[in-house]
Amino acid sequence: MKAIVIRRFGDASVLGCEDVADPEPGEGEVRIAVHAAGVNPVDAGNRADGSWAGIRLPWVPGYEVAGVVDRIGPGVRNVRPGERVVAMTDFPRQGGGYAELAVAAADHVALLADSVSFVAAAATPVAGGTAWEVLERLRLNEGDRLLAVGASGGVGSYLLQLAALRGVMTVAVGRRRHHERLRTLGAACCIDYTDDSAGDELRRSGQVPVCALADLVGGPAAEPWLDAVAEHGQIAAIEPPELDLGRIVDANITFHGVLISSAGERTRTLTGLLAAGRLTAQVSHVLPLEQAVQAHQLIEAGHAGGKIVLSTDAEPSSRAVEPGEGQAS
Ligand SMILES: NC(=O)c1ccc[n+]([C@@H]2O[C@H](COP(=O)([O-])OP(=O)(O)OC[C@H]3O[C@@H](n4cnc5c(N)ncnc54)[C@H](OP(=O)(O)O)[C@@H]3O)[C@@H](O)[C@H]2O)c1
Repeated sequence: MKAIVIRRFGDASVLGCEDVADPEPGEGEVRIAVHAAGVNPVDAGNRADGSWAGIRLPWVPGYEVAGVVDRIGPGVRNVRPGERVVAMTDFPRQGGGYAELAVAAADHVALLADSVSFVAAAATPVAGGTAWEVLERLRLNEGDRLLAVGASGGVGSYLLQLAALRGVMTVAVGRRRHHERLRTLGAACCIDYTDDSAGDELRRSGQVPVCALADLVGGPAAEPWLDAVAEHGQIAAIEPPELDLGRIVDANITFHGVLISSAGERTRTLTGLLAAGRLTAQVSHVLPLEQAVQAHQLIEAGHAGGKIVLSTDAEPSSRAVEPGEGQAS
C-alpha cells in the first residue's frame, strides 16, 4: 500500500510517499481502506520531534481516518467488512492514518451514515472530540457564557457548535475575516484579537464576565482575556498556557488541562450529530494523500481557518473547500 512515512524527525520535507507492507489487524482490531485522513497540528509536532508521544521510526502519521472496513481481526463483532466507518487510531503513539490502509481498535470505530462524506467524517474525531472533552470538563449550564480563544481553528469550529447544542453562549476570539462564519456556527459575539481595542470591545459587548474560558491556542494567547473570567469560574486549556497564576488563585478559578484519547463512544456520538445535520465539519482544505508535505506546511503556517484533510480518492488537484461543503456525500 501507499503511505506517508517519516524515517527521521524534521520539517515537512521528511514526509515521504512510499510503498510499504499492508498492516494486518490483530485481535480486536479492524483494517480500514482509508478514503480520507484528518491532519492535526499534533501530527506536525510529532513529525518534528517524536519524544512527547514516544514515537519510534519509521512512523506513519495520522490519528483519524474515514473509509470502508476491509478486514477484521479475531474477536471483532461490532463491524463487518464493507461497512463505512470513521475512527481514531490509537493516540498518541500509533498513528498510521496517512495511508491507503490503517488499523484501528474495533472499539474506537463508529459506523458512518451514507449521508456523511468521508472528508467530513475524517475531519471530526480529533478536533470535534477535543471540543467535546472541553465541554464535558467544564460542565456549563444552559445560558452560561464561554469565551473561546482560537475559535477560528479546527477545535474552535466544533466547540462553538457543540456549545450551542448545550445552550451555552460563546464569545469567539478570532480574526475578523472569520467572524461571519463563527456567528453561523453559533457564536453570540466575536472579538478580533489582532485589534488594539479588542479588550474594550469585549467589555462594551455586555458579554463579560464569562463563566469559563477555553484556551485552544496555548502560550500567551489567553492571558489578555483572563480578567473576563468570573470569580469561581473555570479555564480549560488544550495546550499549555502562560497565565498569571496569581489571578487564577485570587479569583478562585478552576483550571482543567485537557488531552484527548481515542474513545470510540465520543466518536460515535459526534458521527451521529454529523448524520443528523446538527454538526458540520469545517474543512478548509482537501489535498491528495501525496501532498502531505503541503498539508503540514499549511497547518504549521497556522491560518488554515478549518480542518485540513488528505484524500485517497481521485482528486484533480489540491483545493480549498467552502465551510460545511465536506458535509455532503
Ligand atoms: N490537548 C488536546 O487533546 C488537543 C487536541 C487537539 C488539538 N490540540 C492543540 O490545540 C491547538 C489548536 O488545534 P486546532 O486543530 O484547532 O489548530 P488550528 O486549526 O491551527 O487552530 C488554531 C486557531 O487559533 C488561531 N489563533 C492563533 N493565535 C491566536 C490568538 N492569539 N488568539 C486567538 N486565536 C488565535 C489560529 O488562527 P489565526 O492565527 O489565523 O488567528 C487558528 O485558527 C493546537 O496547538 C493543537 O496541537 C490539543
